[in-house]
Amino acid sequence: MERTFLMIKPDGVQRGLIGEIVGRFERKGLKLIASKMMLISPELAERHYAEHKGKSFYEPLIEFTTSGPVFAMVWEGDNVIALTRALIGKTDAVEALPGTIRSDYAVHTRFNLIHGSDSIDNAEREIALFFAPEQLIDYELTI
Ligand code: CMP
Repeated sequence: MERTFLMIKPDGVQRGLIGEIVGRFERKGLKLIASKMMLISPELAERHYAEHKGKSFYEPLIEFTTSGPVFAMVWEGDNVIALTRALIGKTDAVEALPGTIRSDYAVHTRFNLIHGSDSIDNAEREIALFFAPEQLIDYELTI
């Protein structure tokens, strides 16, 4: 079963959007198998965003990501990576389709509320960065 790493960023936590965002994935029918609120160290933020090192937005992104609590999650389901990215919307809120999280609630490319893994390899890497294997809960959705 496919898994993805989603992280509500400090702006989403500050604006009280955890419930709204989590609810969208729940109502879609996806399965939450791990979650925690946490503060991210600069070292963890740098490892998480390693592919962006050297880009113009990298330093401000690290500063923003470590500026306050985030809500880290692992979700599971068929095509969960593509499905969650569709619900999240494009990185730039101007380009995000109406009805997506970023279109509905974000106005800025950096302060874009939530991160979602973009591939199976990155999902596995990011999940391992944030969660120990025993923190991923194995259960069935029975309804
Ligand atoms: P995320 O999906 O977490 O992946 C990388 C992040 O870098 C992205 O969301 C944005 O927060 C940020 N980002 C990407 N492109 C830009 C940009 N052009 N300007 C500012 N921030 C960006």
